[in-house]
Amino acid sequence: MKNELFNLIDKLEKEQSLTLGEYQKLIENYDSELSLYSAEKARKAAEKYYGKKVYVRGLIEISNFCKNDCYYCGIRKSNKSCQRYRLTKEDILACCKEGYALGFRTFVMQGGEDAYYSDEILCDIIREIKSLYPDCAVTLSLGERTKESYQALYNAGADRYLLRHETATKEHYEKLHPHALSFDERMRCLRDLKDIGYQVGCGFMVGSPYQTAEHLARDLKFIEEFSPHMCGIGPFITHKDTPFAGEKSGSADLTVFLLSLIRLIKPNILLPATTALGTIDGKGRERGVLAGANVVMPNLSPLSVRKKYMLYDNKIATGQESAQCVEELKGRMKDIGYEVAISRGDAK
Ligand code: 5AD
Repeated sequence: MKNELFNLIDKLEKEQSLTLGEYQKLIENYDSELSLYSAEKARKAAEKYYGKKVYVRGLIEISNFCKNDCYYCGIRKSNKSCQRYRLTKEDILACCKEGYALGFRTFVMQGGEDAYYSDEILCDIIREIKSLYPDCAVTLSLGERTKESYQALYNAGADRYLLRHETATKEHYEKLHPHALSFDERMRCLRDLKDIGYQVGCGFMVGSPYQTAEHLARDLKFIEEFSPHMCGIGPFITHKDTPFAGEKSGSADLTVFLLSLIRLIKPNILLPATTALGTIDGKGRERGVLAGANVVMPNLSPLSVRKKYMLYDNKIATGQESAQCVEELKGRMKDIGYEVAISRGDAK
């Protein structure tokens, strides 16, 4: 068995593809030795395209109003304990100004699905950022919108869009979301984003409630087939004010192993070591990079709102997590042999 697993990693490295059953076998039987073996190959694959560089993105959490009620998420509309906020254009531009001075060349505007942000308002903000900082990329992570809306935002200058698929299995999707949200609509959005020409990021949570190894195998197959430019994965972490408050959080070990598999599937993918990974493991960011991740997304949101964008319990918002501490992040990356790059950091 042990040899068989190592052979599967060799095969994945060579062919960038395995069967669903093979992925499932790896996920069900991996151990620390296999994980280290995979990480070494994943690092080598990343290095071929990106060298020993880590890209940074300044994350601006523009609103925690959300019309959705995802069972796992702390900013779901039914959470009455969540103190809601939304940033103005001026707030967002101030974040960009600070971020630019700190060396960020990608700004990610992320938020709940907040109807306040019409196409008109967003296009105006995007145009302004692009005209003030023409050497920067603008990434959006604002959930599901119509194709026309995605097109308008793209025309205004947005370069990239992050929309996690959350799970590639329809039945599982329905256990994580209320009826108002549908798996097919999610997939429609991802296809539209790609057709329009965005650099697209999908992704999923590791260890979300009801998730099985088979589901995760399907997530990997989905990444193979959809071939996104980016993929964000992090452990599911419980949030006390959600229906999943009593569920177990996901594991850092499995997240790190999956990062390596994703790197081997798509050697040139942009792969973040996520905040959630950094939250359940103090060395999560470093472990992610050493497993093949090549992106970190420090928080650029105004300090006054940072504690309010609580997708899950204990989300880290200071220290290496904050854009203001990019020097600390640089030091941590240097300690593991990596260098933080000042560039847009497009996919190669
Ligand atoms: N734990 C981990 N990740 C979460 N997200 C939302 N809630 C949680 C949670 N409790 C992730 C989702 C979403 C992204 C913005 O944050 O995958 O797409």
